[in-house]
This record gives sequence, C-alpha cells and structure tokens, in this order.
Amino acid sequence: MASLKLLLVLLGFLYLAIIEAQETTYLKHNCSSNKNFTANSAYHFNLQSLLSNLSSTTTDFYNATAGTTNDDTVFGLFMCRGDVPLQLCRQCVQNASERISSECRYSKEAIIWYDECLLRCSNFSFFSTVSEGPTLCLLNTVNATFVGSFNTFLAKMLTGVVAEASNYSASPKNFANKSDNISAFQTLYTLAQCTPDLSSKDCHRCLRDVMGNISMCYLGKQGGRVLYPSCNLRYELYPFYRSITDSAPAPTPSANTPLPIVLTVLLGFFCYILQKRRKKSYKAVLLENFGDESATLDSLQFNMGIIEAAANKFSQENMIGKGGFGEVYKVTKANLEYVKSK
Ligand SMILES: *[C@@H]1O[C@H](CO)[C@@H](O)[C@H](O)[C@H]1NC(C)=O
Ligand SMILES: *[C@@H]1O[C@H](CO)[C@@H](O)[C@H](O)[C@H]1NC(C)=O
Ligand SMILES: *[C@@H]1O[C@H](CO)[C@@H](O)[C@H](O)[C@H]1NC(C)=O
Ligand SMILES: *[C@@H]1O[C@H](CO)[C@@H](O)[C@H](O)[C@H]1NC(C)=O
Ligand SMILES: *[C@@H]1O[C@H](CO)[C@@H](O)[C@H](O)[C@H]1NC(C)=O
Ligand SMILES: *[C@@H]1O[C@H](CO)[C@@H](O)[C@H](O)[C@H]1NC(C)=O
Ligand SMILES: *[C@@H]1O[C@H](CO)[C@@H](O)[C@H](O)[C@H]1NC(C)=O
Ligand SMILES: *[C@@H]1O[C@H](CO)[C@@H](O)[C@H](O)[C@H]1NC(C)=O
Ligand SMILES: *[C@@H]1O[C@H](CO)[C@@H](O)[C@H](O)[C@H]1NC(C)=O
Ligand SMILES: *[C@@H]1O[C@H](CO)[C@@H](O)[C@H](O)[C@H]1NC(C)=O
Ligand SMILES: *[C@@H]1O[C@H](CO)[C@@H](O)[C@H](O)[C@H]1NC(C)=O
Repeated sequence: MASLKLLLVLLGFLYLAIIEAQETTYLKHNCSSNKNFTANSAYHFNLQSLLSNLSSTTTDFYNATAGTTNDDTVFGLFMCRGDVPLQLCRQCVQNASERISSECRYSKEAIIWYDECLLRCSNFSFFSTVSEGPTLCLLNTVNATFVGSFNTFLAKMLTGVVAEASNYSASPKNFANKSDNISAFQTLYTLAQCTPDLSSKDCHRCLRDVMGNISMCYLGKQGGRVLYPSCNLRYELYPFYRSITDSAPAPTPSANTPLPIVLTVLLGFFCYILQKRRKKSYKAVLLENFGDESATLDSLQFNMGIIEAAANKFSQENMIGKGGFGEVYKVTKANLEYVKSK
C-alpha cells in the first residue's frame, strides 16, 4: 500500500518534471480574414519557405523575408520570452509555425502567441514598427487583497520593469523581469519584453500603452498580462518565469531502452528537480504548467486530480512538509479559475 502511494506521488512529479522540460503552451492566434492568398501561389510557396527558415533558426529572435517581387514577398519574425532556453525556444517556434499554417491556412496576416514565443507573418514589412493590434489580454480572476496598496505597489513595479526593458544598455534583449516583496507573505513578479527590432523609444511607447491597458483591465486583480504583437507585459504573485539554472535537458528515453533503466533515470531526474525546487520554485513548477491557461483546463483538471491525490498521500506520509504542499495546491486551484477576457 505504501509503495502504491509512493508510486502515485512519483508519477505526479515525473509528469511535472517532463512537462516542464519540454512542453510549450499555446495561447491564441489571429488571422486576417480579408487578406487571403491562393493555394499553391508564389505567395504560398514563399510563406512556406519563410516558416521553414524561421523554425530552423537557432536564436531567440529572428526576422526574415522571402520572395522577390512586391506582390508575393512575405515578412515574418519570431521572438521567444527572454528567460526561455534556446532549445525550448526552437521547439516553440516549430510548433508555432506548424500551427499557424494550419489555423491560418490562406491568411496573409497571421500572429500566434505561445507562453514561450510569438510568431508573426504578413505581406507588408512590419519590422521596426510598433504594432498594438491584435491584442491578447489574459486575466487572473482572483482579487488582490488590500487592493489600494496592491495597486500602488503594482504601478511602481510595472513602471520599473518597463523602464528597464526599454533601456537597451541595461537590457540588450529588450527583456526585463523584476520581483519584490509586497509583504512578508507575498512577492510580486513582473516581466516586460519588446521585439528587438524596435528602438528603445518605440519599445517604451509600446509598453506604456500596454500599461495603460493593464490599469484599465486588471487593477485589483492578482495577475494579468497584455500581449501586443510588438511588446508584452505580465505580473503575477508567483514566479512564472524560469530561472536560468532551470534549463535542464529533457529526458528522452528511446523506445527500446529497458523500462527499469528508464525508471531509474527518471527517478534520478525527479530527485534532482525536487531537490532543486523544494524551497523556492515549487509554485513555479506547478503554476507555470498548470496554473493559468484555460485552453488546457480540461487536461489540467485530470492532472491536478493526480497531483492532489499524490500531495495528500504524500503529506500523510509526512515525507514533505504539509504546509508547503497544501499551500501549493491551494494557490494552484485558485489559478485554475483564470479566464480569457478578450
Ligand atoms: C508540439 O506539438 C506536438 C503536437 O502537435 C506536441 O506533442 C509537442 O509536445 C509540442 N512540442 C512542444 C515543445 O510543445
Ligand atoms: C534564412 O534565410 C536567410 C536569407 O535567405 C539565410 O541567410 C539564412 O541562412 C536562413 N536560415 C536558415 C536557418 O535556413
Ligand atoms: C530585419 O529587420 C530589420 C529592421 O528592423 C531590417 O533592416 C532587416 O532587413 C530585416 N531582416 C530581414 C532578413 O528581412
Ligand atoms: C481567408 O482565409 C481564412 C482562413 O485562413 C478563412 O477563414 C476566410 O474565410 C478566408 N476569406 C476569404 C474572403 O476567402
Ligand atoms: C497585402 O495584401 C492585401 C490583400 O491581398 C493587399 O490589398 C495589400 O496591398 C498587400 N500589401 C502589400 C504591402 O503588398
Ligand atoms: C483579430 O484581430 C482583429 C484586429 O485586431 C480583431 O478585430 C479580431 O476580432 C481578432 N479576431 C479574433 C478571433 O480574435
Ligand atoms: C472582486 O472584486 C470585484 C470588484 O471589486 C467584486 O465585484 C467581486 O465580487 C470580487 N470577487 C471576488 C471573488 O471576491
Ligand atoms: C539605462 O541603463 C544604464 C545601465 O544600467 C543606466 O546607467 C542608465 O541610467 C539607464 N538609463 C535610463 C534612462 O534609465
Ligand atoms: C523577500 O522575502 C524573502 C523571504 O520572505 C526574503 O528572503 C527576501 O530577502 C525578501 N526580498 C527582499 C527584496 O526584501
Ligand atoms: C489599450 O490601450 C489603447 C491605447 O492606449 C486603447 O486605444 C485601447 O482601447 C485599450 N484597450 C483596452 C482593452 O483597454
Ligand atoms: C529574472 O529572470 C532570470 C532568468 O529567468 C532569473 O534568473 C532572475 O532571478 C529573475 N529576476 C528576478 C528579479 O526575478
């Protein structure tokens, strides 16, 4: 019986570890419905070669052009979130380009957002220009406590992170993250990023507009984000970005590796992850992967069932501090109530 419980716990954690190592999270796409190209045209061909060029690039930002004549030239770029490791970035761009070509089949203008990356194409050159539409707003529906002081603190933090992200001598990747303690119990995490083709001034303008949107939509909420094609801003009461040391390679057992070896390797990996995260970023693991995307809610609930069962058994066995685990689950459940507002 005890070993069954342990197995359950391990399965839960293995799942988290694996998910964290290789999964990317789709958020939304938007395709033009009035600017279409025809199948097998020169435009179609150029788009395909542009997407394959973008998905075989090994950087965290790239802009590219395909085509020679005005009518069938395609412009495109991708950008990964500043803390995403390059390997995951590339997987994200590959998935994004597959998905954009199936979802936006014949659209000349298309954009797709993932948690980890953004991919955009168009028939006009949008490089080095601020684009503020289409917009994606995601909202944490949980109300903040002590709303007045939370908002003051939030405004101060966002102003700081925006200033840092748009100061290219301080943030060459046009990316900044800042965290600070609101109280002894709460830490606010913020992130801002612009596509690197923007000038410092344009980046600042874009992020200022995003901030305006955040104050309209989200004041009083515990978390939220606004994503424009050119820049984005996010804040939460949990660490939603990775720390650089977290980029452990994904375990990729091959089909014919004997099961005991696979299990041993996975177990080792799990212990490693667990040890590394026990103190600080446990919430990050759970929330990053399960917290906020309504698109994956269905599978989440199932997975959370496993985790919850595992967590309860685990704390009964007193193998991990009850407090830490209970808290993680409570926070996660609250965050399952995220909705898309737009
Ligand atoms: C890419 O998409 C496939 C399914 O389309 C999925 O199995 C895989 O996990 C995705 N990769 C990433 C990095 O999200
Ligand atoms: C993408 O296209 C550019 C211009 O044609 C080329 O220089 C570059 O090598 C290509 N990158 C990849 C990874 O194919
Ligand atoms: C990328 O964008 C810059 C402007 O930001 C432009 O000068 C450059 O030509 C673009 N690169 C490609 C391959 O289109
Ligand atoms: C253009 O293509 C999109 C799919 O990408 C489709 O939904 C839309 O109906 C098409 N519009 C026209 C005018 O053909
Ligand atoms: C992009 O395509 C649309 C619709 O096909 C066309 O009206 C527009 O002029 C094109 N823009 C450029 C810059 O080629
Ligand atoms: C796509 O973006 C356009 C322009 O911003 C907006 O009018 C439209 O509602 C968006 N479509 C979807 C499905 O979000
Ligand atoms: C959150 O705050 C709003 C406005 O202050 C209020 O209408 C709503 O009932 C609150 N929601 C919860 C769950 O407390
Ligand atoms: C930009 O960052 C540099 C280096 O951190 C700093 O010296 C400078 O004061 C900053 N500029 C602004 C306008 O904040
Ligand atoms: C925030 O709180 C944690 C523990 O509560 C503490 O270790 C850390 O030093 C605090 N950070 C700041 C900037 O005060
Ligand atoms: C976002 O800000 C822009 C410019 O400041 C404004 O035009 C737009 O209406 C705002 N959108 C929302 C949802 O607040
Ligand atoms: C910002 O992100 C980096 C990389 O993910 C991380 O190492 C660092 O601790 C974060 N900074 C703050 C203030 O959270």
